[in-house]
Amino acid sequence: MKALVLAGGSGTRLRPFSYSMPKQLIPIANTPVLEYVLRNILDLGVSEVGVIVGDRAQEIQEALGDGSRFGARLTYLRQEAPLGLAHTVAVARDFLGDDDFVMYLGDNMLPEGIAAIAEEFATHRPAAHVVVYKVPDPRAFGVAELGPAGEVRRLVEKPQHPRSDLALMGVYFFTAAIHEAVRSIEPSARGELEITDAIQWLVSTGADVRAGRYEGYWKDTGNVEDVLECNRYVLDGLRPAVRGAVDDASVLVGPVVVEEGARVVRSRIEGPVIIGAGTVVEDSHIGPHTSIGRACAVTGSRLEYSIALDGASVTGVQGLRSSVIGRSASVGTSGQSADRYRLVVGDHTRVEVAA
Ligand code: G1P
Repeated sequence: MKALVLAGGSGTRLRPFSYSMPKQLIPIANTPVLEYVLRNILDLGVSEVGVIVGDRAQEIQEALGDGSRFGARLTYLRQEAPLGLAHTVAVARDFLGDDDFVMYLGDNMLPEGIAAIAEEFATHRPAAHVVVYKVPDPRAFGVAELGPAGEVRRLVEKPQHPRSDLALMGVYFFTAAIHEAVRSIEPSARGELEITDAIQWLVSTGADVRAGRYEGYWKDTGNVEDVLECNRYVLDGLRPAVRGAVDDASVLVGPVVVEEGARVVRSRIEGPVIIGAGTVVEDSHIGPHTSIGRACAVTGSRLEYSIALDGASVTGVQGLRSSVIGRSASVGTSGQSADRYRLVVGDHTRVEVAA
């Protein structure tokens, strides 16, 4: 069995962050989403991993290297243009050979892992095994209609009028039967070769296609709200560890991680919170459910349910909530009167101030 990880997407819904970093590298509890993906694959005993990359190939390769750090062997496969998920299977055709494989979208977070799904696939070994999740509004997903024994009757990509509330998750198991399906379909209305259409082709030709319901936690970290929510969930499982310095005037409550070289001075940290290596927190109140990246500076501020990426600084700002602060971005006060703001805001950035 091999794995195909998709890390080529452009992440328009995650702007402005996706301008400067591939969305698959957005940190959840200070660890890039792609690392969680790789770990879940390695947990299956699968170490041959093809990674589909696009324009952001270099940053992905810098982050994961050759995979030896994780015990994986990574092969980077270049998709020249975003022509769809099924197209990536064609790009990876030689790498995959005739092996079974798991295809895993690099922005999907499944903190409980995928071992149970892999077992279901191994038991019946259908041509394709998809995973479905009940969602309130499935229109942004592939949608599955199932028969009584969990067999897939019909799959439709992002339907206007969904016929079920079962969304397709970004984890699929395939036998080599998928290759003929990929060769047989046409691009969709959005100009992409949809994996949903390829699987539907298998259903139409009478192949065995099954679906399992996923019971664990799942998030497609495609937008800022979902990134924050997922960060909250993962932090809830945080195991406390203080490897940096916390002075006597500071109070840590609940699970808190202070990484190497970080310093907490005269501050209240209300876990779950993770504070990255080399970061300095002074005279501040942080948490709960907040991740501060590496080499950040937080001074005289109040931050909760938020994420600060590496190198960010926050100075003298109270009441930051549900905020994501980009790499080396700074948020501070100006010394002007309270009803004045000075903003230097990048493209597709969102700023909300008190009304
Ligand atoms: C893709 C698939 C869709 C699936 C979703 C899960 O959509 O096309 O069927 O439900 O991933 O994350 P995308 O997010 O690429 O638009």
